[in-house]
Amino acid sequence: MQERTSLTIVLAAGEGTRMRSSTPKVLHPVAGQSLLAHVLRAAPHGAGHALAVVVGPDHQAVCAEVKRIRPDAQTFVQRERLGTAHAVLAARAAIARGADDLLIVFGDTPLISEDTLQRMRAPLKDGAALTVLGFRAADPTGYGRLLLEGDRLVAIREQADASAAERAIALCNAGVMALDGRHALKILEKIGNANAKGEYYLPDAVAIVGELGLRASVIETGEDEVRGINTKAQLAEAEAVMQGKLRQAALDAGVTMIAPETVWLAADTTFGKDVTIEPFVVIGEGVTIADGAVIHAFSHIVQASIGKNASVGPYARLRPGTSLGEGARIGNFVEAKAATLEAGVKVNHLTYIGDTSIGANANIGAGTITCNYDGFAKHRTTIGAGAFVGSNSSLVAPVKIGSGAYIGSGSVITRDVPDNALAVERTAQTVREGWAARYREMKTRDRKPKS
Ligand code: UD1
Ligand code: MG
Repeated sequence: MQERTSLTIVLAAGEGTRMRSSTPKVLHPVAGQSLLAHVLRAAPHGAGHALAVVVGPDHQAVCAEVKRIRPDAQTFVQRERLGTAHAVLAARAAIARGADDLLIVFGDTPLISEDTLQRMRAPLKDGAALTVLGFRAADPTGYGRLLLEGDRLVAIREQADASAAERAIALCNAGVMALDGRHALKILEKIGNANAKGEYYLPDAVAIVGELGLRASVIETGEDEVRGINTKAQLAEAEAVMQGKLRQAALDAGVTMIAPETVWLAADTTFGKDVTIEPFVVIGEGVTIADGAVIHAFSHIVQASIGKNASVGPYARLRPGTSLGEGARIGNFVEAKAATLEAGVKVNHLTYIGDTSIGANANIGAGTITCNYDGFAKHRTTIGAGAFVGSNSSLVAPVKIGSGAYIGSGSVITRDVPDNALAVERTAQTVREGWAARYREMKTRDRKPKS
């Protein structure tokens, strides 16, 4: 049998005013990625699986994020915020294309898993017209309650419309819904706004399914997975839950962490075998760490790839575009950006390496600075294999240091240095024998009181 096709609609038209931020709510990050990115990544993808995102007016930044994560997605604008069912119908054109399964997910529930979304499609295959994702809330206040007759789901009651008895129900609507594509538009178009808020409520689809003589079902999940984010406090809670999961997954994958609770990971961090991460390390998005690498304490790494058996830190900062070859070493108080360090390169202390390529086994002395910026543009520094850059040198880009070349300590290098040459740029040292003794004697004599 052919696999069922799907359309996922993500609702991201939220104003997010309770975040007290000028950033749209769904663009706030959890584990190094926007709330929206997490949801978009959980949505079914590949051939036969379409994606639509409903955004509010003036949300170009949200559209740009959609494009970045899922270029195949179509965006629709909900001009007025008239409720969740109204928002879904903003994507009517996509629904009308008639996928087998329609999934509706909120853009502010970043912990939702791909697996749960797939589970919600299963009852549709068995003849249900609708599946709701339910969870047992520790405090159900504010959520829609699932009304069951026996094991049949008959309606969802919103908090504002619920009786006291209904408010006592702990089984709540997580907000994720799956609909049989053949009935979806018919059901959604029947939803009215005769309720306490005068909004078009998506949860009313459940009662309509009953009226049409069709069947609605519930899939349950844990509360952590469906945490919706409306405030900065909830954002921090979601981060904590997500970090807990990522640390556990890293430990399960064989990463050694001495104090996992102090290590921050991103959802897309990838690890090889026998990786060690010391305490108080922060890893942002886009980081890959190969076999045997060690990340020492207090390092901060974003969009970087760390080669086999490489060593980073303590107190190192790897910024976007850094790539470390096998066995490369980045030591304390070293910052690297847009830098490629081939195998065996050592940059052990107090150094800035930006817009730079360094050939294999080169040694960069303490306090070296690549001066990559002239106040207007960035320029590249190229350092050949096996070169030795003496401590406290400034390499003024654009500049090339040849393979095997030596740079004398304290040099300010502004011109290219050929392979295997020595470049020294500093005044010649002068030595005056006995000068210090004469100087001290003179100063002591001057201080004696005149007789
Ligand atoms: C909703 C559900 C409730 C459920 C809860 C789970 C409705 C009416 N209620 O309530 O049953 O228990 O989620 O968290 O659906 N949105 C739009 N356009 C609109 C309105 C909302 O795009 O016109 C988006 C929001 O950005 C948000 C989502 O839909 O991502 C949910 O809206 P929200 O106002 O947060 O609904 P809740 O009151 O939380
Ligand atoms: Mg909500």
